[in-house]
Amino acid sequence: MTTVLITGANRGVGLALARQYVASGADVIGCCREPAKADALKDLSAGSGGRVRILPLDVTDEPSIAFLKTALGNEPIDILINNAGVLGPKDQSPDGIDAEGWMTALRVNALAPVLVALALADNLKRSREKKLVAISSDYGSISIVWPSTTSARNRYAYRASKAALNSGMRALSSDWAADGVIVGLFNPGWVQTDMGGPTARITPEQSASGLIRRIAELTPATSGIFLDYDGKPIAW
Ligand SMILES: NC(=O)c1ccc[n+]([C@@H]2O[C@H](COP(=O)([O-])OP(=O)(O)OC[C@H]3O[C@@H](n4cnc5c(N)ncnc54)[C@H](OP(=O)(O)O)[C@@H]3O)[C@@H](O)[C@H]2O)c1
Repeated sequence: MTTVLITGANRGVGLALARQYVASGADVIGCCREPAKADALKDLSAGSGGRVRILPLDVTDEPSIAFLKTALGNEPIDILINNAGVLGPKDQSPDGIDAEGWMTALRVNALAPVLVALALADNLKRSREKKLVAISSDYGSISIVWPSTTSARNRYAYRASKAALNSGMRALSSDWAADGVIVGLFNPGWVQTDMGGPTARITPEQSASGLIRRIAELTPATSGIFLDYDGKPIAW
C-alpha cells in the first residue's frame, strides 16, 4: 500500500491530488491549516473507508510541523508532496515591492517545503518509494524570459520563491541520494484554482492526473528533475 502525504490538501491542486490518489487505492494523509473548515477533504475522508486521514498543518509554523511529526511517529510516507503555496503580495513588480509580503512568500513556498521534508525525513526514508515532491512553477525558472505583458511582471516574489524552492529541493536530491530518496519538481500547469483563476488553461483534475503520472515515473536516475505536469522539461 502506498501512503501519500499532501500539504494544502483542502482545495485546488492538493485536493485533486488527494482525490485521485485515493481513487487509485493509495492511503492519503491530507494536511491543511483548518481541518474543521476543510469540507471537501472531510467528504473525501468520510467516503474513503478510513484511507484518508486529515491532519492539521500550517507549513509556516514550526510547532505545527513538529505536531505533524509526532502524529505520524515512524509511519512510512512513500510520497511526500509539498503542494501548499501562495502567490504572495499584490506589490511585487518594478512599480513597487512589499518586502514583508516577499518574505512571507519565501517562507511558505521555499522554506516550508524544506522544513517539512527535514521533519519527515525518517518517514520518507523508511518507505518503499521514498519520493519527495514539490509543486513548483515555471515562474521559478530564471532562464525563461517572460514578456512584460504577462502576469510574470507582477510576480517577482513568487518567482523568487519558486526558484528558491527548486534550489532547496535540488540540494536535498543530492544530499539524500545515498538514502534512496528521489526528488521531483513539477509545474502543475496553469490551473483553474483560486490561485490560477477561472480562465486558466486546465482543470485541477487534468493537472493532478499529469502530476501523478510524472511522480510514478520518477526514478533515482531522474531525481532532481524539473518538469511540466505533461512531462516536458522546464529550463532552470
Ligand atoms: N494554479 C496555478 O495555475 C499554479 C501554477 C503554477 C504553480 N502552482 C502551484 O501549485 C500549488 C497549488 O496551488 P493551487 O493552484 O492549488 O493554489 P490554491 O488553490 O490557492 O491553494 C493553495 C493551498 O495552499 C494552502 N496553503 C497556503 N498557505 C499555507 C500555509 N501556511 N500552511 C498550509 N497550507 C497553506 C492553502 O490552504 P488554505 O485554504 O488554508 O489557504 C491551499 O490549500 C502551489 O504551490 C502553487 O504555487 C499553481
